Amino acid sequence: MPENQQKLIHTFSALADIGQEVAHKFNFHEMIRTSFHLLLGSLAIMRGGIARYSRFGHELNFLAVRGLGDDFPVSASISLEDEREFLSAGMSPIELSQAKMLLFFQHYQPVIEKKGIELIVPMIVHDELVGMVMLGEKASGEPFSSADRAIVQAMARHIGVGIYQRNLMAQLERKAEENKRMYDEMRLTYADTVKSFAAAIDYKDKYTEGHSVRVGKYSELIAAELGWSDERVEGVAVAGYLHDVGKLTVEKNIINSPRRINAKETAELNKHPSVGYEILLPIHHPYSDIPLAAKYHHERLDGRGYPDGLKDEEIPYIAKIVNLADSFDAMTTNRPYKARRPAHEVVEDLQRNSGKQFAPELVTALCGAILKEMTGETKERKFRKLLGREYMEAEGIIDLLKGALNGLAATGPLTLVAAE
Ligand SMILES: [Fe+2]
Repeated sequence: MPENQQKLIHTFSALADIGQEVAHKFNFHEMIRTSFHLLLGSLAIMRGGIARYSRFGHELNFLAVRGLGDDFPVSASISLEDEREFLSAGMSPIELSQAKMLLFFQHYQPVIEKKGIELIVPMIVHDELVGMVMLGEKASGEPFSSADRAIVQAMARHIGVGIYQRNLMAQLERKAEENKRMYDEMRLTYADTVKSFAAAIDYKDKYTEGHSVRVGKYSELIAAELGWSDERVEGVAVAGYLHDVGKLTVEKNIINSPRRINAKETAELNKHPSVGYEILLPIHHPYSDIPLAAKYHHERLDGRGYPDGLKDEEIPYIAKIVNLADSFDAMTTNRPYKARRPAHEVVEDLQRNSGKQFAPELVTALCGAILKEMTGETKERKFRKLLGREYMEAEGIIDLLKGALNGLAATGPLTLVAAE
């Protein structure tokens, strides 16, 4: 085979190798190093360097060098005029004699000449300077032929595309990071807003201080016990925090009445789920069903709740969770007309109303979560913080909870219980 044909085949194979490097190497620096060594090897060039161009810093940063010694600079500045010159010259390799007019060369002439650089190849992709290859002489001592320069140019273009892709990727990563940061900030703002609303609702109702906040927390604990994803658990917590937002429009003296309210006042108070729904509906919540939780948190499985008397499967699931959390808090806190009920009564009540007011699997989740905390299966002390140590450690509660859980397991999955 004639020598020039052999060379051509060799070049094609080196180009294919570089192409493969650029396309498949996940490690950018390794890709550059390997490709550069392929370039040097294909023409038996003794020394050289390859740099990436930073458009922001206007400098070349060398990513790989061979045979240039430790004193070769790791970066080199490029003026705007130089950048323009390189762009207008395109990717043709520049002989040192041509390069002398450039400011860049004038500045770095001593080191470039000392290191025996003979050829400079700017890498330009989509009219953008992405880097530069600098090459010393060939091992044979022969000057670079026009074929050699074409080979160098083709290989440098391949590597340039790799750098260009990496730049694009870095831009995308920066954008994605920025978006994530903005998203996190928005979520935080949303969470803070929700908590402020809950505090505003609770402020209005002096007898049930902290009710919305506690319902938010109980709802969260129930959903977490169900094994739901973090995002769904957060959504349920928000629904709990906001379930009584409609109370903001109810007369303060009705909410704070020290006696049982009359029928007219009850009718007024009972509007709060629908009002809450109207308030929450126009807001774009990051979770679904928040307005529905407010609207239906006083519905019961047996259809005896309000405002619509929905039955079991007609009630949005999130509303069932908030309903249980709401009732649990009502039972375990002091109200002006009703003292806090002892722990054993609460457990019995939950069990008795399972399938009537509450979804049995939710009662199971609530009792299960409390039991885990009491037996030390979970290290957190969330219920204890909300209910107080004494209340949580009331005598016989562990056995009662275990009994309730067994009873609930025996009744099987959720069944519709007809209205009495
Ligand atoms: Fe309510």
